[in-house]
Amino acid sequence: MKIIAILSTVFTIIKLSISNCYWSENCHYKYFSSKTPYEFVRGDIRDSFVKIKGCYAISVWSLVRHGKRNPGIDYVQNMLDATTMKYTIKFNHENGKGSMCAQDVENLYNWEADPKLFQNVHQIADEGYQEIFGIGYRIRKAFKDLLKSLDDKDYKLRSAYGAWIENGVKAFVEGFGNTSMIIEKSNADYDIMAPYEACSFYVKEVKNNMKTYLEENKYKNTSEYLAVKKRIQQRTGMDFTLTNKNITGLYDLCRYTSSGLNNTLSPWCAIFTKEDIQALEYVGDLRHFFRNSYGNPINEIFGRIPLADLLERFKTAKNGKGKKLTVYFTHATMMDMVYSALGLFKDEIPLNGTFRNPERKWRSSKTATFAANLMVTLNRCSNGESTGYNVVFYMNEEPLKSICNEGVCSWEDFEMKLKPFINTTTAFC
Ligand SMILES: *[C@@H]1O[C@H](CO)[C@@H](O)[C@H](O)[C@H]1NC(C)=O
Ligand SMILES: *[C@@H]1O[C@H](CO)[C@@H](O)[C@H](O)[C@H]1NC(C)=O
Ligand SMILES: *[C@@H]1O[C@H](CO)[C@@H](O)[C@H](O)[C@H]1NC(C)=O
Ligand SMILES: *[C@@H]1O[C@H](CO)[C@@H](O)[C@H](O)[C@H]1NC(C)=O
Ligand SMILES: *[C@@H]1O[C@H](CO)[C@@H](O)[C@H](O)[C@H]1NC(C)=O
Ligand SMILES: *[C@@H]1O[C@H](CO)[C@@H](O)[C@H](O)[C@H]1NC(C)=O
Repeated sequence: MKIIAILSTVFTIIKLSISNCYWSENCHYKYFSSKTPYEFVRGDIRDSFVKIKGCYAISVWSLVRHGKRNPGIDYVQNMLDATTMKYTIKFNHENGKGSMCAQDVENLYNWEADPKLFQNVHQIADEGYQEIFGIGYRIRKAFKDLLKSLDDKDYKLRSAYGAWIENGVKAFVEGFGNTSMIIEKSNADYDIMAPYEACSFYVKEVKNNMKTYLEENKYKNTSEYLAVKKRIQQRTGMDFTLTNKNITGLYDLCRYTSSGLNNTLSPWCAIFTKEDIQALEYVGDLRHFFRNSYGNPINEIFGRIPLADLLERFKTAKNGKGKKLTVYFTHATMMDMVYSALGLFKDEIPLNGTFRNPERKWRSSKTATFAANLMVTLNRCSNGESTGYNVVFYMNEEPLKSICNEGVCSWEDFEMKLKPFINTTTAFC
């Protein structure tokens, strides 16, 4: 009797010590906040563009976040430190510590960093170039009649300031199929696609204000987040207490070294469970919510500025003098601000650090994914004698259904929504 009892305890312990294998699971959670590869969330404008009887597009306006870029200087060191853990994890595994399965440990051990990842700090990555190339390519195909041949006066391409964004525009024109296209010079001081950058009030009161990050820090003290840390500690078998910086380094390794285009997830992701990745995504959501969105009433004011441009350009296009194509290239911050100005993805109860609501509407993995984009088309419709107009919104190449009827706004609805944004001033800056 005693022997059986002992045996069964031994069996239980062995069973518990082997956790799930990442490599053989086939349903991974692939939303990594603002570092989500575009391929994991995008639709395809060639398939999704809304065909309405008697209507055809006369103007396309788009705001596009840069594609995947390498980590910035603040994060590179954390990541480099964390890479050394692959040796410790292997050593621990061989000594019966940690709970990762053999193949996951081996895949991690065999992983090698692409040197460009750490050397070309904050620069566009190859994958980021491809992400934007794809958008240029698909826009041209989806609106082939409108965009077949473009004179200089028919289009406008401008990027916010920053080499990693500007280099991406080259990818766009390459994908579009006309590398002779003229790209306007970016403006380092002020631009409608990054008006917050030049606003010292915003920089001081929001971006660099510790209060902005209070809920995020609060969340990192919740039992839910502490459990994430504990699980990672157990899986890796580390004999020192992992700090928040160590977790960030590991998470960044997972998300930056996953590839959307190759549809491969990094072996670093094996350190995390689905719940861990969801908790880390929420940290990103809180950050974006307070720094760029509803968490501070200033944020949405900036979002009105590009939307006022959209209204003006479509008004001009309606009168027959507009551009066929307008594309602005920008930052995640601006994408978040624009969605906020439109009142989209707004939760009734603001996000907070006490409780992660799995049903929340605000998702940085969608609004601010790499190459996140808002595309809007102006359509002219004629039925017999009368001519009318409508406007269709697309988010990441899918109709943005929550804005109007299935993404299709009548001209009147569109004008009513955007009119209040004309004359937006940032005098408070
Ligand atoms: C863990 O983080 C601390 C700072 O928080 C850092 O000094 C240390 O190098 C990190 N260790 C690893 C293995 O990443
Ligand atoms: C390519 O771009 C150049 C510069 O704007 C323009 O002159 C030319 O017509 C474009 N070609 C096509 C096929 O649109
Ligand atoms: C989180 O907990 C740490 C350690 O107990 C404490 O120093 C810090 O002030 C807490 N942060 C917040 C935002 O509650
Ligand atoms: C994708 O796969 C190709 C071919 O195997 C490889 O050359 C490329 O580096 C991979 N890209 C990424 C971002 O992993
Ligand atoms: C946090 O948000 C949840 C809803 O997601 C709400 O029920 C809760 O009251 C909020 N907590 C605080 C402290 O605001
Ligand atoms: C914007 O300002 C101009 C000039 O002051 C004014 O004529 C116009 O009515 C204003 N538009 C809106 C929508 O406030």
